[in-house]
Amino acid sequence: MRDILSVRGIEKSFGSLKALDGVSLEVEEKTVTMLIGPNGSGKSTLINVVMGLHKPDSGTVTYESTDITGWPPHKLYRLGLARTFQIPALFWDLTVLENLLVASKDHPGESFLKAPFKGTWMKWEEEQVAAAGKILRLLGLSEKWNQPTFQLSGGQMKLVELGRALMSGAKFICLDEPISGVNPTLAHEIFAKILRLRDELGITFFIVEHRLDIAITYVDYMHAMAYGKLLASGTPEEVVSDARVVEAYLGA
Ligand SMILES: Nc1ncnc2c1ncn2[C@@H]1O[C@H](COP(=O)(O)OP(=O)(O)OP(=O)(O)O)[C@@H](O)[C@H]1O
Ligand SMILES: [Mg+2]
Repeated sequence: MRDILSVRGIEKSFGSLKALDGVSLEVEEKTVTMLIGPNGSGKSTLINVVMGLHKPDSGTVTYESTDITGWPPHKLYRLGLARTFQIPALFWDLTVLENLLVASKDHPGESFLKAPFKGTWMKWEEEQVAAAGKILRLLGLSEKWNQPTFQLSGGQMKLVELGRALMSGAKFICLDEPISGVNPTLAHEIFAKILRLRDELGITFFIVEHRLDIAITYVDYMHAMAYGKLLASGTPEEVVSDARVVEAYLGA
């Protein structure tokens, strides 16, 4: 399989603190790839560099052979990269379905020229509702479509965030701690859904998660970081038994 994302020699400092010290890694297409490392090792900084929140001091980020280094988030979103945040940011008074529809791209009614011609965007809206319905089915949220999101459980809110990323048509999705604060049963369900989305929609997932006990059984590939450097890459079994990774966790 081919790499969808490639990170080469990324360096990023905050003042005198070197948060990323020459990080290079690849993410293979249509895999669930996980990034692990002790607190403060640079995982979120790396995600923020990939997703356009931070500009790296040096190094490159390549997505499907396009150099996207330093691109702003909205441009990455159009290219097919999306993310979720550790704490979901939803429109709490809107329903589950409405939250998904707000995320869909390129509403023709927003165009000044097309807005008066209702027929041009009615069909588009119907298609978007159908797409949202399919995503809600894949996420197991069909029954909840008409509920305001503030009424959902924490795990369901995370699923709605994922649904919003899917509505954008994203092919590469970064998940920041998708199961933190979620009970074990739902955490397993969330990962089972992630695998289903990988297989049925061909999505690539790049995931930061601390709860290895649950996540490890679902992951295709793993990268481990410590002190702003990449320590090991491989299958989850290889990485968690790597002496440098064990030491980084024990020493942290
Ligand atoms: N915006 C910032 N300004 C200054 N320092 C920062 C900033 N963001 C991160 N850092 C520092 O960079 C280092 C790496 O932080 P980062 O958040 O990437 O770690 P992490 O691996 O995501 O940790 P955690 O597992 O706790 O989320 C830390 O020392 C952190 O304090
Ligand atoms: Mg972090």
